[in-house]
Amino acid sequence: MLLGGCLVLVAVVANVAAVNLLQPPTKVIKRASTCTPVAGRSSATDDTLAIQSAIASCSSGTIVIPASTTYHINTALSFKGCSGCTLQIEGTLQAISDTNYWEGLRAIFLMDGINGANIYSNTGKGVIDGNGQAAWDVFAANSSYRRPTLFYINNSKNVNVRNLYFKSAPNVFHSVTGGSSNVTYTDITLYAVSNSSNVAHNTDGWDIGQSTYVSINHATVTNDDDCVAFKPGSSFATVTNITCTGSHGISVGSLGSGAGNTDTVQNCFVSGATMIDSTKAAGLKLYPGPPKHGTAIVTNVTFENFVLKNTDYAFQVQSCYGEDASYCSSSPSTAQVKGVVVRNFSGTTSSHYSPNVANLNCPAAGSCGLTLSNITVKPPSGSAVFQCANTPSSIGVPCSAGASG
Ligand SMILES: *[C@@H]1O[C@H](CO)[C@@H](O)[C@H](O)[C@H]1NC(C)=O
Ligand SMILES: *[C@@H]1O[C@H](CO)[C@@H](O)[C@H](O)[C@H]1NC(C)=O
Ligand SMILES: *[C@@H]1O[C@H](CO)[C@@H](O)[C@H](O)[C@H]1NC(C)=O
Ligand SMILES: *[C@@H]1O[C@H](CO)[C@@H](O)[C@H](O)[C@H]1NC(C)=O
Ligand SMILES: *[C@@H]1O[C@H](CO)[C@@H](O)[C@H](O)[C@H]1NC(C)=O
Ligand SMILES: *[C@@H]1O[C@H](CO)[C@@H](O)[C@H](O)[C@H]1NC(C)=O
Ligand SMILES: *[C@@H]1O[C@H](CO)[C@@H](O)[C@H](O)[C@H]1NC(C)=O
Ligand SMILES: *[C@@H]1O[C@H](CO)[C@@H](O)[C@H](O)[C@H]1NC(C)=O
Repeated sequence: MLLGGCLVLVAVVANVAAVNLLQPPTKVIKRASTCTPVAGRSSATDDTLAIQSAIASCSSGTIVIPASTTYHINTALSFKGCSGCTLQIEGTLQAISDTNYWEGLRAIFLMDGINGANIYSNTGKGVIDGNGQAAWDVFAANSSYRRPTLFYINNSKNVNVRNLYFKSAPNVFHSVTGGSSNVTYTDITLYAVSNSSNVAHNTDGWDIGQSTYVSINHATVTNDDDCVAFKPGSSFATVTNITCTGSHGISVGSLGSGAGNTDTVQNCFVSGATMIDSTKAAGLKLYPGPPKHGTAIVTNVTFENFVLKNTDYAFQVQSCYGEDASYCSSSPSTAQVKGVVVRNFSGTTSSHYSPNVANLNCPAAGSCGLTLSNITVKPPSGSAVFQCANTPSSIGVPCSAGASG
């Protein structure tokens, strides 16, 4: 039995200081308005409709998920009807771990075509739990199984997500795409660590696609794929003050997968990152060229002020992504790389490729506008080696031959 509905408390205070019976009050102050969706009593009760009806009916107030309360998200939750809505989460929103239900759905939480939303916790104790262990286990046994993104923002603008803990996404945690603009994430923790022998595959922290002015400031991510990925169509994305543990680093791409397509990523800025136990701190993932794939343009992308702890590579350029060397030698990447700046990277790499700290395999049939400066990263022993291929004569680090991949 669904206990839908919403408790609304509205305090309206009229300023009656100089009451003139012939005129209406001169000032009306509308005070705090709060809606609390009523949670069902057990995990068998789906709380999605109660929250959706609060979103649609309490657009000028704050929808509160109270502390120490778990709401069960047993069906996909849409923000439809939100227009400048405010959702304050002090308790937990937990998705059901029903792998049959979620299969093939785009997202657990979907924001599509929304202008203005504010989703936050005051206490920092608000949790959005994707409950993804079962999905990781099913996917490990069957890679055709299609898992939802935890929180998907599409074709929306002026959205702020703040001071929240997201855990166990079945797949990607956050996507922003579909022409979204001005989406800000502040003080966010993401955590996906499997309890079984199957890792939490594809739990990208953020996939920033077709969008402008997406920013992430002060995030802590523990996951098993890209910490942040700038996907096709990303422009003016900014990432500051991020700590990533166990990831594939901060990536541009993958780009140029589809035959006939030109994928563009531009004007992205990453400043202040601590990268721990990752396969790379940062890099570019570019598919090779036709006939199976398309091409890419990467322009004006900066990675600066990185501190590394036990990362396999400090920086990696892959231009043979998703194919083998023989395909890539006959169909090299034609991607244009312009204005990619990598500066002020310190710390240590892992023993994995030691003493190599970077693998820069630029597009053989494209361009390589890449400069590195003040890279003081050290391998566990010996001196740092930067492997290069198809790079211009001066990229700011001494190049050795042998880059691939
Ligand atoms: C793998 O998952 C797909 C998609 O759900 C399904 O069609 C297929 O039957 C599954 N294969 C096995 C062996 O379970
Ligand atoms: C961006 O969105 C925030 C709400 O999250 C809003 O306060 C701000 O004015 C917006 N900025 C622009 C430039 O529209
Ligand atoms: C995202 O928005 C585009 C329009 O920009 C629309 O065509 C697409 O269906 C939307 N996708 C989802 C999952 O809402
Ligand atoms: C793994 O187990 C711990 C301890 O039971 C639990 O707190 C955690 O939520 C579990 N993680 C997942 C992903 O289910
Ligand atoms: C980065 O985060 C730390 C806390 O983790 C904070 O002390 C520092 O001021 C932040 N820096 C910026 C530029 O936001
Ligand atoms: C390059 O990207 C930065 C960071 O997003 C942006 O501030 C700057 O305006 C961009 N430069 C150009 C020429 O667009
Ligand atoms: C270099 O990066 C470190 C670590 O992020 C930072 O503390 C330092 O201020 C940066 N130096 C400059 C000149 O930006
Ligand atoms: C160069 O790197 C060192 C070591 O991380 C850092 O202290 C310094 O601020 C960096 N200088 C510049 C100009 O980035």
